[in-house]
Amino acid sequence: MEACARESALASSPVVLITGCTEGGIGSALARAFAAEKCAVVATSRSLSSMTNLKDDPHFFLLELDVLSDESVNHVLSKVLERFGRIDILVNNAGVHCVGPLAELPLSAIQRTFDTNVYGGMRLIQAVIPQMVCRKMGKIVNVGSVTVMAPGPWAGAYTASKAALHALTDTLRLELRPFGIDVINVVPGAVRSNIGNSALATYSRMPEWKLYKQYESAICQRATLSQGSKSTPADEFARKTVAAILKKNPPAWFSYGRYSILMRIMYYLPIFVRDFFLRLAMKC
Ligand SMILES: NC(=O)c1ccc[n+]([C@@H]2O[C@H](COP(=O)([O-])OP(=O)(O)OC[C@H]3O[C@@H](n4cnc5c(N)ncnc54)[C@H](OP(=O)(O)O)[C@@H]3O)[C@@H](O)[C@H]2O)c1
Repeated sequence: MEACARESALASSPVVLITGCTEGGIGSALARAFAAEKCAVVATSRSLSSMTNLKDDPHFFLLELDVLSDESVNHVLSKVLERFGRIDILVNNAGVHCVGPLAELPLSAIQRTFDTNVYGGMRLIQAVIPQMVCRKMGKIVNVGSVTVMAPGPWAGAYTASKAALHALTDTLRLELRPFGIDVINVVPGAVRSNIGNSALATYSRMPEWKLYKQYESAICQRATLSQGSKSTPADEFARKTVAAILKKNPPAWFSYGRYSILMRIMYYLPIFVRDFFLRLAMKC
């Protein structure tokens, strides 16, 4: 009886598909925040074993999804449409960090960053658009980054990938408007998640720097810059973000989290002043 009531309530709830919902990250927190707002949540990650915290909760439909694979995206989409008949909100949250000086960073690492952060998101967007257009409604949410507001040293590939995503988001918002689809750029500041540990793991596989040996420690610190003790808890970030996304008229840009105001100020500073602060902070 209770299960029946829940099923019928979910039938009228927004269906939200989120990528990158590994436990401890922003995606997982967003999944829980959408569920708390009575959405039907399709939480996805590369491996079901990374979402065991959501496993026994009937609010979540858990699926494996690798944003690098057409096959994986098509499989997930058909499963979701079979179960819910629609996707109301797509949240492109999956992302990878990439740390290292641009002069020596292997091109393969830069490519992988763009593959995940830019083309991965576009793959999902192109897949969900046809059914959103048919229904003349839908929301596409791309998770960018405040680092784009003041691109500094040591994270050039990551920042460039997020800058590309910001630009795509702005264009998509205008191009999809005639079809009733809202496009929202969610721009986190420093939010507690697994991103620092994942970045360190990737960083440990980088070649030894030749030109930048003396900067090694500053470069390595960039991997965990967002993970200080005062970083915004992911649950707090997720609650505010979901409230913004679920508005009838959602904002084009939603930024929240530690350093988000500081980075906005940095954006408006004269370049020489911004460079001065960035050189100081990044020790170069
Ligand atoms: N935390 C911050 O301070 C911060 C600031 C600005 C922007 N962001 C952005 O916020 C988003 C979430 O990051 P987070 O901080 O929560 O980091 P996170 O904990 O490392 O989460 C990243 C998620 O993306 C997934 N992912 C990576 N490659 C993927 C692929 N090919 N297919 C599917 N999923 C993939 C990861 O899966 P695995 O667990 O399998 O690796 C993980 O679930 C990212 O786009 C990130 O750039 C975060």
